Amino acid sequence: MIVSRALVAALCVLAIGAGVARAQRRGGAGTVRQSDFGQMPDGQRVSVYTLTNRRGAQARIINYGGAVVSLKVPDRKGRLGDVVLGFDNLEGYLNQTFYIGALIGRYGNRIARGRFTLDGVEYHLATNNNGNHLHGGVRGFDKVVWRARPLTTRAGPALELTYRSRDGEEGYPGSLTVAVIYTLTNDDELRIDYDATTDKATVLNLTQHSYFNLAGEGSGDILNHLLTINASRFTPTDATSIPTGELRAVRGTPFDFTRQTAIGARINADEQLKFGSGYDHNFVLDGRAGQLRRAAEVYEPTTGRVMEVWTTEPGMQFYTGNFLAVEGGGKNGHAYPRRTAFCLETQHYPDSPNHPAFPSTVLRPGRRFRSTTIYRFSARP
Ligand code: GLA
Repeated sequence: MIVSRALVAALCVLAIGAGVARAQRRGGAGTVRQSDFGQMPDGQRVSVYTLTNRRGAQARIINYGGAVVSLKVPDRKGRLGDVVLGFDNLEGYLNQTFYIGALIGRYGNRIARGRFTLDGVEYHLATNNNGNHLHGGVRGFDKVVWRARPLTTRAGPALELTYRSRDGEEGYPGSLTVAVIYTLTNDDELRIDYDATTDKATVLNLTQHSYFNLAGEGSGDILNHLLTINASRFTPTDATSIPTGELRAVRGTPFDFTRQTAIGARINADEQLKFGSGYDHNFVLDGRAGQLRRAAEVYEPTTGRVMEVWTTEPGMQFYTGNFLAVEGGGKNGHAYPRRTAFCLETQHYPDSPNHPAFPSTVLRPGRRFRSTTIYRFSARP
């Protein structure tokens, strides 16, 4: 079903070479507008692409790290609000250490001690997080400039980002070609389609690291957001956030979000939550991986905004921004202290290369990695 959807999407894609796409008629496909966002230290220009759908929802995305800079969606009164953290300029993105808004790769989340063995060869990666490898290393996909191509599709305005990661980059084997298509659909969904191929066996775990606050970025903590996660199990970790290998039932623990619960209700409640200083754990999503299914729903009572997460991935990292500390340098001069946003990072489980029982993250030549995640927005009374 995913493949046929992708095919249909590909067939109705119209590439806009000039970087400016406008709906041909009122009620058309929406627009993509390109403008300058600044210059990299090596002189490369970075652009910001503004996707506006037929209903007026808007996403701004840069080709540095493929970061979503802003995402404006309606509340219950139809008022648009920006529901993601971000920065007003490129410097903000160059200086941050929180992966705010960015695409993550090659390997989202952690690999224990930065080591894994593939086909009998041991690979050594950067240990950039408490002795472990995190989010692709020192210069992961969040810190590179992607090639961008605006598109208009039947579903809504879109942006295709591509990046070629060379063999050995950040210690990973194989030259990897990654394409990510962001579509702001006319149903107020931010849809993310990932596609990757390699010329040598490698490991891969792509995700997106937007920090959400459905009451609006900079509006305070997210502890009263109500969360449902369609996961009966999670992967408990050691003190450095590496999974022990166990798939533990959430039932009777603070990880049980199978019924709608406030994020803050049990956030300090057990040893696992001390390790992450709050929620920073992978949930084993119910249903069949590979099929697009609903992973989570978040409801923000003051604005009525609802965000659903749909994904083909087997897991999802729920992170409550426990390490977040942006002091006044956020958008509109906002500060983003800890727990003022949450992340729902769809993914394969952390440290999968060292856990043969976890779903495999190995990509081999001749195979194509495909994955889809949708953040769907609406509002309720
Ligand atoms: C992920 C990790 C967290 C943290 C954030 C970025 O969610 O699991 O531990 O590293 O990214 O700050």
